[in-house]
Amino acid sequence: MDLTYELIFTVFPYLCLATFVVGHSYRYITDRYAWNARSSQILDKKSLFWGAVLFHVGIILTFLGHAGGLLIPQKYYDLFGISSEMHLVIAHWMGEVVGIAAFVGCLLLLWRRLSNKRVRAAGTLNDIITLGALTLVISTGVYNVFFGHYNVLYSVAPWIRGIVFFSPDPELMRPVPLSFKIHVTAAWALLGFSPFSRLVHIWSVPLFYFFRRRIVFRRKPLGAIGKAGFGRFEAGGKEG
Ligand code: HEM
Repeated sequence: MDLTYELIFTVFPYLCLATFVVGHSYRYITDRYAWNARSSQILDKKSLFWGAVLFHVGIILTFLGHAGGLLIPQKYYDLFGISSEMHLVIAHWMGEVVGIAAFVGCLLLLWRRLSNKRVRAAGTLNDIITLGALTLVISTGVYNVFFGHYNVLYSVAPWIRGIVFFSPDPELMRPVPLSFKIHVTAAWALLGFSPFSRLVHIWSVPLFYFFRRRIVFRRKPLGAIGKAGFGRFEAGGKEG
């Protein structure tokens, strides 16, 4: 047994996972007022749009792709006629598209955080570390997709399943190229760091939005406002 591999590819992932689960639960229970994305939209809306949209679409699809591609064993894809070659081609092309979206979005957000005076003044070092760590994880992921040319289905994928299902085997990571090792280690570190950052908001998917009752907004012509009278509401909210 190689102690270095054991520490990096078994002990470290479990430390990060435990911090992730306990940290997010603890913050949800004890710190609900700070449980949000700490939006900076009010400080500068224009420069946020493309960065936030590209990043969020890219990263959410990347998560789904990782979950489907790595956690579900190849034998189940074989049942549906998706060979490992086909699986890799699909993962490659999807990875290029969503990875580039996440990467460009992340760089735009990082650039905004560093260059916009108002956003920078209201932000914290933690915000910059979060975006910096995301940039490292995403850039190594994109590098692997474009230049890695390595079959992860029989090495990285079973290793991750081993961690998730409590039968870790760090030896599976031995033949894996360095750029993949950096990517997975940085990703575990980011998971461990996430409860201490604004990333707690990843759980706040506004699903209720699709089921809530509709709110009707009506635009009133200016004349109508005059007739109905602003005077109905005097300063201080008292009805006249
Ligand atoms: C469906 C789940 C998600 C929702 C509803 C959501 C929503 C939001 C909202 C409303 C903001 C504030 C917009 C702003 O002012 O910047 C934000 C910012 C942010 N989100 Fe998410 N998010 C989600 C998932 C994620 C995920 C999975 C990640 C990364 C792993 C992420 C990372 C970030 C970061 C880093 C920022 C800060 C951007 C900045 O201002 O520099 N989000 N998110």
